[in-house]
Amino acid sequence: MRPKHLKFPFTWEERKPMLYEGVLIVPQYYDQHEKWEVPKGLFPKEGPICIEYCSGNGDWVILKAQENPSQFWIAVEMQFNRVRKIWSKMHNLSVKNLLIVCGEAQTFTKYYLPKNSVDEVYVNFPDPWPKDRHAKHRLIQKSFVDELADAIKTGGKAIYATDDAAYSAQMIEVMLAHEKWKTCFPKPYYVQQWEDYGHSWFENLWREKERKFFYMQFVLSQKKSGPSLST
Ligand SMILES: C[S@@+](CC[C@H](N)C(=O)[O-])C[C@H]1O[C@@H](n2cnc3c(N)ncnc32)[C@H](O)[C@@H]1O
Repeated sequence: MRPKHLKFPFTWEERKPMLYEGVLIVPQYYDQHEKWEVPKGLFPKEGPICIEYCSGNGDWVILKAQENPSQFWIAVEMQFNRVRKIWSKMHNLSVKNLLIVCGEAQTFTKYYLPKNSVDEVYVNFPDPWPKDRHAKHRLIQKSFVDELADAIKTGGKAIYATDDAAYSAQMIEVMLAHEKWKTCFPKPYYVQQWEDYGHSWFENLWREKERKFFYMQFVLSQKKSGPSLST
């Protein structure tokens, strides 16, 4: 299978959530996400569920799914051309424990993920939006980590990796200000090396350029009660 073999299943006018060829399509500029009914068995009832947001071409998440066959992995990527690359690798390497989501991270988390269902989430080298006036576009903001706190089980982890010092500082600030998230690392709340973390396209690129990395880990310590995984 090559990336081009995954065709987009509908026109802009026909857009709707759809499970198609192993990819959950979460449409953008769409106002009926609430009506989505989770297909039976889409999310496993047993075993850990782990997510990588902003998966890019999927190198990192494919390897994690292969290394951990007892875990169910979800790759969330909003660009269809990149989703195609993940999809092609998933097929060619016969990876069975991976769901690809073509959609925006916060929308997927809010409307599509069952509450209290997820064990670990990773955000690896998200777009840094380095200019101050663009920082509002960064994914790690209070509204997103609120949604994560609903989706993740108590004791679940959120792990972020970036080469951008300013974004790392924002990630730490947002997480430490949140009543439900606690850091797993002492001050300065990040480590710069993480053995066996895995490799992604951007991680390799920035490593070649000798950029410094910031790895952060947070645990969900408390949460209000809510419905748990029932599908
Ligand atoms: C800098 S790339 C990193 C890709 C990959 N994690 C890596 O390390 O090679 C960031 C990726 O995040 C995706 N992305 C950005 N914002 C997103 C969002 N809100 N929801 C889903 N994907 C997003 C982009 O399309 C892009 O593929």
